[in-house]
Amino acid sequence: MRTLIRNGRIITAIDDYYADILIDGEKVAVIGQGLSDESADAVYDATGKLVIPGGIDPHTHFDMPFGGTTSADDFDSGTLAAAFGGTTTIIDFAIQTKGESTFAGLEAWHRKASGKAHIDYSFHMIVTDMPVSRLPEMRGLADEGITSYKLFMAYPGVLYVDDGTLYRAFRQAGENGTRICMHAENGIVIDEIIREAVNAGHVSPAWHAKTRPTRMEAEGVHRAIAIAEVANVPLYIVHLSSADALEQVKLGRMRGVDVVAETCPQYLFLDDSVYEHAPPWQGGHRHADPFEGAKWVMTPALRQRGNQDVLWQGLKLGFISNVATDHCPFCFKEQKELGRDSFTKIPNGAPGVENRMALIYHGAVTEGRLDLNRFVEVTSTAAAKRFGLFPKKGTIAVGSDADIVIFDPDREETISVSNPHTHHMKVDYSAWEGFKVKGYPDTVFSRGRCVVHKGEQKASGGGQFVKRALVGSVLR
Ligand code: URP
Ligand code: ZN
Ligand code: ZN
Repeated sequence: MRTLIRNGRIITAIDDYYADILIDGEKVAVIGQGLSDESADAVYDATGKLVIPGGIDPHTHFDMPFGGTTSADDFDSGTLAAAFGGTTTIIDFAIQTKGESTFAGLEAWHRKASGKAHIDYSFHMIVTDMPVSRLPEMRGLADEGITSYKLFMAYPGVLYVDDGTLYRAFRQAGENGTRICMHAENGIVIDEIIREAVNAGHVSPAWHAKTRPTRMEAEGVHRAIAIAEVANVPLYIVHLSSADALEQVKLGRMRGVDVVAETCPQYLFLDDSVYEHAPPWQGGHRHADPFEGAKWVMTPALRQRGNQDVLWQGLKLGFISNVATDHCPFCFKEQKELGRDSFTKIPNGAPGVENRMALIYHGAVTEGRLDLNRFVEVTSTAAAKRFGLFPKKGTIAVGSDADIVIFDPDREETISVSNPHTHHMKVDYSAWEGFKVKGYPDTVFSRGRCVVHKGEQKASGGGQFVKRALVGSVLR
């Protein structure tokens, strides 16, 4: 199958020019001006549109058992929603069951994804214990293409690991040429704050945020950086949410530590007022039912508004390398409801895999905070480079996978659970209900297959597991 994309404005992390792209099979074969359509089986006219690398979301949780239930999107619905939103690669999190082999966790996630995904995918491994006897598994995982690991300072008794485990895993990951992803929040102190709040009778969703101070995120980031520095491993702070925490990343980088952070659209656009009030674009009225705030119970919690400008600035200057979603959806009616009696039982997480590209384009380009190249970098290229996918993914170049989005910079959409253009996620609410964006993906190719065109699904399945390269290596 040969596909020609004509007359587009091609934007990569460094380029901006007008040309045609010939896709041959799964790869970009030719980029040039005035390419003939004689040998093409399909032709797409991109006049007036941007042609960008498919988005890469390195932080999703599909089909994940968590908080007494399982996240609402599986690899079928989640990857289809991602494609509709212009994302063509996701990196999800396989989980090691405590005391068991990490390979068993990896196998379980392969079974969840295999044959279901509509776009390409990989996994980070969530490490929940790492005795010395198990350390060799980490090299085995790297051989399987799992070149990054997530560890948690949060969620004591569930995913939390102690500092000794952090150090052991960090050392081994560094020696293997792999990367550590860190959920950096002091979960031990936070649990004490939660105990005090609950004892005082504070159980509404708003207390989720009040019991998770930004200082406890900053402390976690500081500690993770210090351990990574001593263990000599590249560090990636996931879902960084606050100015306090970003300050620690800046200090670490200025000392020469290889640390970067990701943030998420929710921390760039939303603030903690939504736990008690409707979002500003809905009018900001007090929720009639205080439990409505459960829709945004996620960890880290949403922060005070003043953090947002600092995070955008961090993204502009490169202290924050990229934007992921931490897509972890739970239906409001049946799943968030588990915590109606107490915020401590609300499953943590919110949907967003479908909305990331449009939200970030809107905030970055439409509203003038970042330029087009940086938009591509933070939504695709940086994640490809950090996580061993580049240059197979994350750019438009001859020989790269034809993961390409034709993006209409003028298309306006109102994000809503009832808008068939913006909601394919299997969850009964949108965290962005009523938010208006300018700029939206029209056509999405995954390794040359047109998956979405003008709001319609054009292909099904075909997503493949991608074995990722070691830090500093390239993937072809
Ligand atoms: O609330 C969240 N973020 N849920 C998913 C688990 C995590 O910490 O990433
Ligand atoms: Zn996390
Ligand atoms: Zn997460």
